[in-house]
Amino acid sequence: MWGYLWIPILFSLSKEFSSVEAQSKILLPSQRQQQQNDAVSSLSVLGPRCPVPDSKLNYRPVIGIVTHPGDGASGRLNNATNASYIAASYVKFVESAGARVIPLIYNEPEDVLFEKLELVNGVLYTGGWAKDGLYYEIVEKVFKKILEKNDAGDHFPLYAHCLGFELLTMIIGKDKNILESFNAADQASTLQFIENTSIEGTVFQRFPPQLIKKLSTDCLVMQNHHYGISPETLRKNLDLSRFFKMLTTSADEDNKVYVSTVQAYDYPVTAFQWHPEKNAFEWGSSAIPHSEDAIEVTQHVANYFISEARRSVNRPPAQKVLDNLIYNYRPTFCGKAGKGFDEVYIFTQHQP
Ligand SMILES: *[C@@H]1O[C@H](CO)[C@@H](O)[C@H](O)[C@H]1NC(C)=O
Ligand SMILES: *[C@@H]1O[C@H](CO)[C@@H](O)[C@H](O)[C@H]1NC(C)=O
Ligand SMILES: *[C@@H]1O[C@H](CO)[C@@H](O)[C@H](O)[C@H]1NC(C)=O
Repeated sequence: MWGYLWIPILFSLSKEFSSVEAQSKILLPSQRQQQQNDAVSSLSVLGPRCPVPDSKLNYRPVIGIVTHPGDGASGRLNNATNASYIAASYVKFVESAGARVIPLIYNEPEDVLFEKLELVNGVLYTGGWAKDGLYYEIVEKVFKKILEKNDAGDHFPLYAHCLGFELLTMIIGKDKNILESFNAADQASTLQFIENTSIEGTVFQRFPPQLIKKLSTDCLVMQNHHYGISPETLRKNLDLSRFFKMLTTSADEDNKVYVSTVQAYDYPVTAFQWHPEKNAFEWGSSAIPHSEDAIEVTQHVANYFISEARRSVNRPPAQKVLDNLIYNYRPTFCGKAGKGFDEVYIFTQHQP
């Protein structure tokens, strides 16, 4: 019975195929291969071809994130005196753009930490409050090492968010008292672009023009700081003003203006007084913008960072990278408290 049915169906199918072929030259992959074989018999590579990857780029970039003292939750999660943490939002920020993370545990033995620095293609400094002691020293030493790597010919980016921005102004400005008070805790703000300053070669270069415009009118970035630096103070400090080009300013609750984004002239170093990572990945504060525009801001900033890291020539041994990835640790969900970070990685020990 089935045989009787199939014969006419097959017959009409094959008729249809040949008429389609004749009319629009739509070919099945097998037919296409045959046609190419006939047409260019000298070509040995046939069928669909993917472009050859750019051999100068590293498609498996890894970012080191320096941990910050404490548990990220004021002792709610861990009171160990040597605990340090990374808010998971920074990790997700990096991962979302196509890179993996190795934690650089600030209070590990220095040789261990600097060995890990050799496994990465860029570094991220997070927000927080610590501005002295071992943490400050490590941030400064890692920064010097990053400049050395770039001076030696690597393209090794650094992103510094919030506290990271403040620490860089102290370190580069060679003045631990350079920061001024600002009233910008838990506040969404705009970014005002510095007039006549090109955004080519900066984090903003690939932002759609519409979004750049909206950044200056809509509150699309999250601020959470009590300190900062005014444009005047930055200009007056020659070490700072020679190192950094000012890209944007923002205004605090009292309309006092501070520098909100800077880009080094000669290094792939970008510092944000704001929090690019929060829009997409933190929910503890109602001030954090979560609109589609705001999420795009997070995504563009992350993409630019990792595009820079892909240019790093460092090709560390794959197994060593695996041994040190943050996937060796488990984040803790602490967002039920309705404040602070949603998830944190806490480090109280050396390698797991
Ligand atoms: C840390 O110490 C505080 C104050 O003593 C206490 O309330 C909190 O429960 C402790 N945290 C943990 C995780 O034990
Ligand atoms: C920016 O450039 C325009 C056109 O060259 C000029 O008229 C204006 O004064 C410049 N503004 C600043 C702040 O330099
Ligand atoms: C933290 O202290 C514990 C207990 O004293 C120790 O086992 C661990 O190695 C320390 N971790 C770091 C990162 O110093």
